[in-house]
Amino acid sequence: MAPTVTPINATLGAVVSGLELAHMDEATWKVVERAFLEHGVLIFPGQHLTEAEQVAFARRFGDIELLAADPEQKAVAISNVKPDGTILEADEHRYKSLRGNEGWHTDSSYMPLAAKASCLSAQVVPSSGGETEWADMRAAYDALDDATRRRIAGLSAHHSLYHSQAKIGHMVETGAAYGFHTKGAPLRPLVKVHPVTGRPALFIGRHAYGIPGLSQAESEQLLSDLVDFACRPPRTYAHVWHPGDVVIWDNRCVLHRARPYDYREARVMRHTRVAGDPATELAPTHRDDRASAYEPSSSNR
Ligand SMILES: [Fe+2]
Repeated sequence: MAPTVTPINATLGAVVSGLELAHMDEATWKVVERAFLEHGVLIFPGQHLTEAEQVAFARRFGDIELLAADPEQKAVAISNVKPDGTILEADEHRYKSLRGNEGWHTDSSYMPLAAKASCLSAQVVPSSGGETEWADMRAAYDALDDATRRRIAGLSAHHSLYHSQAKIGHMVETGAAYGFHTKGAPLRPLVKVHPVTGRPALFIGRHAYGIPGLSQAESEQLLSDLVDFACRPPRTYAHVWHPGDVVIWDNRCVLHRARPYDYREARVMRHTRVAGDPATELAPTHRDDRASAYEPSSSNR
């Protein structure tokens, strides 16, 4: 039986039911792949994948981007629970990274090779809050007025995780965690043409800064105006997680953010990131003044 794809009442997102992600035949996978390209975000309720099953599902979309030091580790925890079972304190590095994720962004735009897709599954959820929200950058581009479209055509922005964390007061040393590297800040066009669908989309978010040709103030104003305009209904959807839910989204045309919750409660998500295609997601880098050095590289490792 074919899975059921039910579009969400927004310009992006669909709920997919009537399938087991861990046991898909080729015809079912084709339905999922087509729905991914059309809707940008796919919600699969109640899948309860093991880590190996989640990695295998993500692997269908492309190579896995390695986020941990151990190359055998293909999935990471996004969690406020420490290995000893206690909850992160507000002054800890990982707590500040979690709070940073509450700003609209696209994954790994600060790496030489930006991500294609991201997969999250819910393990432990708080009693309220802690949703993930997505915003449709294709529909946002379509909704821009002509003057803005003309203004941003040909503009690019640098992307840096040092920059986005510094904006929330989190100064991080080079090498302290994934993303705080010496490869330089990638320079990426504000409008990204989707490599498969050909649809233009805004490519912005909290990691973006420093548009060449604009003053720092003009650049910040334009980037924040674009996010404010883009990330509002009917272009957004926030998912209330239940343990076992799996979501995959297309980082090439969708922004996302985590929503706050009572940080004294546990929230444990499992994350697998799918690497972009070097032909379309690799960007040249420039010196990032917040990094300790500049050693240009086209590899994320
Ligand atoms: Fe993210």
